[in-house]
Amino acid sequence: MSEAQASGAIEVLPLTPTLGAELRGVDLAALDDGRAAAVRDAFERYGAILVRGQRLGADDLVAFSRRFGALDEAPLMENGRTAVPGYPEIYVVSNVLGADGKPIGSLGAGEAVWHTDMSYLAAPPRASLLYALEVPPAGGDTWLCSMAAALEALPGDLRRALDGRMIKHDGTYNSGGYLRAGVRVDDNPETCEGTPHPAICRHPAGGPDVLYLGRRRNAYVMGLPLAESEALLDRVWAHACRAENTYKHRWRVGDVLMWDNRVTMHRRDPFDAAARRVMHRTQIKGAEAPAPA
Ligand code: SIN
Repeated sequence: MSEAQASGAIEVLPLTPTLGAELRGVDLAALDDGRAAAVRDAFERYGAILVRGQRLGADDLVAFSRRFGALDEAPLMENGRTAVPGYPEIYVVSNVLGADGKPIGSLGAGEAVWHTDMSYLAAPPRASLLYALEVPPAGGDTWLCSMAAALEALPGDLRRALDGRMIKHDGTYNSGGYLRAGVRVDDNPETCEGTPHPAICRHPAGGPDVLYLGRRRNAYVMGLPLAESEALLDRVWAHACRAENTYKHRWRVGDVLMWDNRVTMHRRDPFDAAARRVMHRTQIKGAEAPAPA
């Protein structure tokens, strides 16, 4: 046991130089108000937190998530159903089939491409949390990208091209490429359903400004001819997701990974569809639209 653990303090170990911290010596199912405030502070400061070795029932998961604010109801799954009876806030991310032969969760076993959760809303969710119940022996790693680091490293001409611009965030497809329930198919970035947000946003907690991209598919730089918007976004995306801006998480059962959607993007590696992966996810409501830098 380390000195910090012996004294009951929470150890905070940065995951990368620009993003995230692992918190040690904390049981998320038994937080008092003081320790909850320390967890929140680390989250604001590092943009993402990892806490390993947790044992959280559905009530614990919801109660911990509520420490950060009101929760969104989970969106409908791709098959139009909700996932966990009695817990409308819990969304199941899984490739596993239930006894009825239907998926118990969303996103299957394929890649989930880089994205920020539900940025097609006017006030996108503030944060998302994944809790690992079952993990595959290989693959299914989740990546986070620091959008402050991405902006910082953006070449000057690209930054100037985005300055003062709005990007439309598409609401047609989810990160697994599935059509969202109840949305009409539209593969034209200029006409698809979505919400424009500033391309460069102020950090909501007073940190460095961030690039705000949402997801690549159907994105559109408002006011530009489509071909110009596509070329600009291709170049910006190629820079944003460089390895040096990212953290790759290899899951263990009991891990909790929580990220600030306002300052990060995430993606997931594919994995063997015959393996099992079951994650419970909650999402903290956003209170405001992203503000321009
Ligand atoms: C997600 O994109 O919300 C899911 C990521 C994952 O399955 O690791």
